Amino acid sequence: MLKKFFTASLAVMLFAACGTEQQPTQEDKQEKVVDKHTLSNADKIDIRHLDLDVSVSFEDKQISGTATWTIDNKEGIDTLKLDTYDLSVSNVTVDGEDVAYQLAPAVEHLGSALLIPVTKGSKKVAVTYSSGEGARALQWMEPQQTAGKKHPFLYTQSESIYARSWIPAPDGPGIRFTYTARVKVPEDLMALMSADNPQQKNDSGIYRFEMDIPVPAYLMALAVGDVTFKAIDHRTGIYAEPVMIDKAHDEFIEVGDMVKTAEGLYGDYRWGRYDMIVLPSGFPLGGMENPRLTFLTPTIISGDRSLVNLIAHELAHSWSGNLVTNATWNDFWLNEGFTVYFERRLTERMTSKDYADMLWELGYQDLEATVAEIGADDKDTHLKIDLTGRDPDDGLTDIAYEKGALFLKLIENTVGRPRMDSFLTSYFNQHAFQTITTEQFINYLNKNLIKGDEELAKKINIDAWVYGPGIPDNAPRADRVRFDQVDAQRDKFLSGTAPAQLETEEWTTHDWLHFLRKMPKPLTQEQMTSLDKEYGFTKSNNSEIADLWYIMAIAADYDKAYPAMENFLYNVGRRKFLTPLYREMMETGKEDMAKRIYKKCRANYHPLAQTTLDALVMK
Ligand code: BES
Ligand code: ZN
Repeated sequence: MLKKFFTASLAVMLFAACGTEQQPTQEDKQEKVVDKHTLSNADKIDIRHLDLDVSVSFEDKQISGTATWTIDNKEGIDTLKLDTYDLSVSNVTVDGEDVAYQLAPAVEHLGSALLIPVTKGSKKVAVTYSSGEGARALQWMEPQQTAGKKHPFLYTQSESIYARSWIPAPDGPGIRFTYTARVKVPEDLMALMSADNPQQKNDSGIYRFEMDIPVPAYLMALAVGDVTFKAIDHRTGIYAEPVMIDKAHDEFIEVGDMVKTAEGLYGDYRWGRYDMIVLPSGFPLGGMENPRLTFLTPTIISGDRSLVNLIAHELAHSWSGNLVTNATWNDFWLNEGFTVYFERRLTERMTSKDYADMLWELGYQDLEATVAEIGADDKDTHLKIDLTGRDPDDGLTDIAYEKGALFLKLIENTVGRPRMDSFLTSYFNQHAFQTITTEQFINYLNKNLIKGDEELAKKINIDAWVYGPGIPDNAPRADRVRFDQVDAQRDKFLSGTAPAQLETEEWTTHDWLHFLRKMPKPLTQEQMTSLDKEYGFTKSNNSEIADLWYIMAIAADYDKAYPAMENFLYNVGRRKFLTPLYREMMETGKEDMAKRIYKKCRANYHPLAQTTLDALVMK
């Protein structure tokens, strides 16, 4: 597989080569990439295409059917290895003949390799299987967990390594394939994938999909529910449950322009359509960049469009991540750090520098908190990390996101914006539909931007950022124009000014977030009561603000907010919100409360969130 892209990529590179950009040398390209999180041997057998034929049963909470892989076994390897996780395999054929396959013993975090005997001429390998109860990618929602309360809902979350829990697949970010699919669902529901999608339900409950651009398994996605479509413009639209569709459409109306603006920054959007789906509130993430169909939490619908920068993030992944993909999960910062940088550039163009600077500052604060939590000397604070033998989820921290983005911001500040932008545009073009390691990126950076300029290299200090701990000394810090004003108002409040006297008229969500975040903890009952009375935080419809407020409420024993908070914990599955709330309870002597609420809510949470919270609350 890698080889195939190698050839295709050469063509792309020659085609895209412009001016003084240097081509990667033979040495960069031939470095052997070892992905420790796949048990497949797609490095030896070319795995080109998947034809998926499955049905979705809400009664059994099971996806079952056949995955047929088209392979090219040029080297004549005798065994094809695919990743599986808790799958039951009932039959395997190679070119129509049953074969004696084997499921190897499970490896921690990784699942079991499915071993299939093949020969040099083997072309089609068909695996008949069903997903298990422990399928980590799947979340089956009962009707009462949806907005409409009438129909069940299913969605997948394959990143990082859980595509293998619903498809037997070569599941590593470096292995790309095209796919077609036929998915059978209950007749009153619609199915959608990370592919060309229907815009209407049909009567048969059978949906067909095609993705003709090769994607890695972690970008395989499926959503099944009572959803309807509403267009934003000719290539952008939104899917949501009928009761949500208008609200969602109104909230995300600017996304059509956002795609154009993104193209203005780093080149054409190459995926055809850009649609989004609003999932039930149990979705464990803010968003997921599934190609052609971004998955979104409904918690970004605040009524004032103030949280759409999250969509800027998922859209940016159409370049960083989906087009140029981290070769292994140890290089995860190449996906997320680049995306946060791109997201902020995009937000700046869509709004203003002041606004983007606020996001940079909030991100910096997150990074400081993360470094403090992990430990300033810990190797997990390096950009390049070693996740061998671990769950790749361990690398899902603000180091990849915020330290990664800040590193790019530093490069931008050092070389200037025009040079940075043409560098990034070439980077995306020259590595389009390929994977990249941290080392390949550094080589590329050295060749095309630093070009032996020692002073420049010293100013940037790649090593300190990539292979060193914490936040390096040369980290840039955004202008704090707006936050200085917010700080002043907070100080006034803390020295006794009544909330009604504060100057907050012009504030947006992110000013409020800064205002609340930097409050000392705990506030007094009087302080909490006066803020709540003036600003109605307990009843806030803005999930980001509500989350911070509930954390303050826990710290201050402000029990007036508890019913609303419990309701929030019951209905919202977004791990980013859940973790700090439960942690605050655990750390302020409210373990019993944490355990009681968690017991009640756990079944509502996605396996991803359950793993994190089991470790936090059940210890
Ligand atoms: N691709 C990530 C989500 C992800 C990463 C899931 C690794 C599983 C493993 C997605 O793009 C993301 O970063 N989502 C963020 C939102 C963002 C604005 C920072 C989230 O869900 O919080
Ligand atoms: Zn992301």
